[in-house]
Amino acid sequence: MDFSLDETQTAVRDAARRLAREKLVPRAKELDRTGGFPEESLRELGALGLLGVAVPEPLGGAGAGAVAYAAALMEVAEACASTSVAMAVTNMVAEQIVRFGTDAQKERFVRPLVSGAAVAGAFALSEPHCGSDAAALRTTAVRRGDRFVLNGSKQWITSGDRAGVIIVWARTGGEGPRGISAFVVERGTPGLTAGRPEHKMGLRGSSTVPLVFEDCAVSAGQLLGEEGQGFKIAMSALDGGRIGIGAQAVGLIRACLGASRRYARERKAFGEPIAERQAIRWKLADMAVDLAAAELLTFRAARLKEEGRPFTREASMAKLFCSEASNRATSQAVQIHGGYGYVDEFPVERYFRDARVQTLYEGTSEIQRKVIAREILK
Ligand code: CAA
Repeated sequence: MDFSLDETQTAVRDAARRLAREKLVPRAKELDRTGGFPEESLRELGALGLLGVAVPEPLGGAGAGAVAYAAALMEVAEACASTSVAMAVTNMVAEQIVRFGTDAQKERFVRPLVSGAAVAGAFALSEPHCGSDAAALRTTAVRRGDRFVLNGSKQWITSGDRAGVIIVWARTGGEGPRGISAFVVERGTPGLTAGRPEHKMGLRGSSTVPLVFEDCAVSAGQLLGEEGQGFKIAMSALDGGRIGIGAQAVGLIRACLGASRRYARERKAFGEPIAERQAIRWKLADMAVDLAAAELLTFRAARLKEEGRPFTREASMAKLFCSEASNRATSQAVQIHGGYGYVDEFPVERYFRDARVQTLYEGTSEIQRKVIAREILK
């Protein structure tokens, strides 16, 4: 498999890199400290086509595919993981509407998403009582004439209080995955309210909220795909989303390796830079090996997706490996920095906190293993 980037992919990656280094790096520490929301950065990403990297150009996207998307997300995550998660979910939501939506839905929802006019997209699947067991969701959508009325609660919704466009999963039929449908709901729809943003360990510059639906009526034209098809839409969305988390983890590992290499060369102990010590060298070497493997797994899954080949297993492998590797790398980066790694004078304590959620969201490491095992036993 060829992992070199073509001209378009390189241009997308370079545009993301420029924005990341010039704008996102200087904002990242303050965004984390204040727990703000990267609205301005999202607008800038939208202006470059980076909120719809794989969305076709006629709908306002970059039309550049899954590999370019992964490459761009790596750059953004290296600069600011909080911004990268809002970018990732927005791309995921826009792609699902392109894939399963009607022409009217594409016109109405995709353009504002990819331009940044909708601020962000959100993916409302998890509920207070179910995360891993997504098919156990209880939110209902009852048809009344030409409308569906939604009732229920969602939990852990990235950008849920800021997103202009939210895909919401709700039960239109009986128990289990086949009773679930997906709806595209706009911010401000009566009956939809966002709860208090969570106080998180990391990704503090991204917003995570519960959502409550109380007699929230949407038109039948907001049903995404067919009735009862919602669970499959969620699963295939998550296949792509997991490539995004792999890419986000790659960004964090790169950031750790860069910061650790710089520090190890500058910091002296026992009369020489700590980079001369085997204990430090081995950590840097392990980090570099993890980084190379993480990049390859992520680009492999992205290429399969782009070629229209099955990629469920490879996306879960990338997500599993990269998220575990980013937790190793961020922990070792703190170790290399010693006491300085524990305070915010250096960015590695933020990387450490930001990496922690990666083995949890978009499917825990345990769920990835379940998916991988299911695929190899098929
Ligand atoms: N693509 C398409 N269809 C799929 C699929 C896929 N990848 N995986 C499963 N399906 C289909 C199956 O073929 C099956 O279809 P039939 O009914 O026609 O046979 C149906 O979906 C049900 O599949 P399973 O029996 O495998 O379903 P399950 O209940 O056992 O669940 C699971 C499988 C993998 C555990 C799934 O529930 C899962 O992925 N859980 C984790 C959920 C998750 O990742 N949540 C993340 C929340 S979003 C988030 O974090 C975003 C954010 O904000 C950052």
